[in-house]
Amino acid sequence: MSRLPRKALVTGGAGFIGHHLLRALLEAGLDVRVLDNLSSGSEASMPERADFLRGDILNPQDVAAAMSGCDIVYHLAGNANGTLSVENPRLDFEANAVGTFNLLEAALAGEVRRFVYVSSASVYGIPRRFPIDEEHPLSPFVPYGASKLVGERYCRTYLDTYGLSSVIARPFCVYGPGENPELALVEVGRYLRWHLNGATIQVVGDADRKTRDFVHVDDVVRGLLVLAERGEAGEAYNIGSGEETSMRQLADLVGSFTNLVVDLAEIQEVMEDTYRLVASISKLTHLGYSPTMSLERGVRQLVEEMGESPALPTGSTIFHPGQAAEE
Ligand SMILES: NC(=O)c1ccc[n+]([C@@H]2O[C@H](COP(=O)([O-])OP(=O)(O)OC[C@H]3O[C@@H](n4cnc5c(N)ncnc54)[C@H](O)[C@@H]3O)[C@@H](O)[C@H]2O)c1
Repeated sequence: MSRLPRKALVTGGAGFIGHHLLRALLEAGLDVRVLDNLSSGSEASMPERADFLRGDILNPQDVAAAMSGCDIVYHLAGNANGTLSVENPRLDFEANAVGTFNLLEAALAGEVRRFVYVSSASVYGIPRRFPIDEEHPLSPFVPYGASKLVGERYCRTYLDTYGLSSVIARPFCVYGPGENPELALVEVGRYLRWHLNGATIQVVGDADRKTRDFVHVDDVVRGLLVLAERGEAGEAYNIGSGEETSMRQLADLVGSFTNLVVDLAEIQEVMEDTYRLVASISKLTHLGYSPTMSLERGVRQLVEEMGESPALPTGSTIFHPGQAAEE
């Protein structure tokens, strides 16, 4: 008979996805501890009931202290930014690969009976077939994808060698309220922020041929909870909407909620970003997951939350394989 978890550790619980997960776990009545160094997250929205430990996943003492008394770990902390990984691959490798290793080590030494690792769809690289299922070849083309894949491999190894029950989540393009606009790269928030300020929507690549699978953060949280409870140890699961949206469709949708004319510019020289990306979510739906937030409803909600002139996105999403990112 399965025992109910007593205390959950959420690494990266001050970040975008982490703080939504934290709220869901607290609402479900769990005790939750957060480990976060606030490098991109914020303590501002931390619920009082959360046990917040400011610390670094690269520091084994911080990790051991955070792990103490926890029997389930949701590991989200690390670098979530592909462009930053191109600019600073060491930072990315340390945060995502070494950081995950530190978490696994501490989980093994503690009482953890479930380890949920939040990887990324970036482990697939440029997709070769559609929709992308979990059997698709793993061929990341930016350091971020490689460092997330290293984390996956170590989760698997710690299951096979030491019996640590880990399960791997591969979210696609996550959007929703509470993103850090300076770091967020997913097009939904960026396009809205430009458009609501009357600025040009900058499409990196071809607006019609570039597609993505946008999944609302509430659905990602649902997917993570399903995986914690029912995911098969050692297995990886896509978390997406299963819907494919082109950049032009997204820009049109954004424009349909305002009275403003959509001004769109394609940055054509960056064609490497022009690829299709859509998840097969059947492996996760077999466990009981089903996405509930349509892109239309999610965008409408964000328009209301952002107001008339939200902070503009900063940071480049422009890079060519083999080169450092451009401004
Ligand atoms: N946002 C997406 O579209 C998306 C898609 C796929 C996967 N993911 C993954 O989901 C996870 C969360 O992403 P997010 O979008 O919420 O990013 P985020 O940057 O908002 O959250 C990451 C959190 O980790 C913390 N952190 C970073 N380095 C740390 C360290 N060394 N020690 C302790 N804390 C540290 C940050 O302060 C931040 O609060 C990441 O692992 C990311 O790779 C995100």
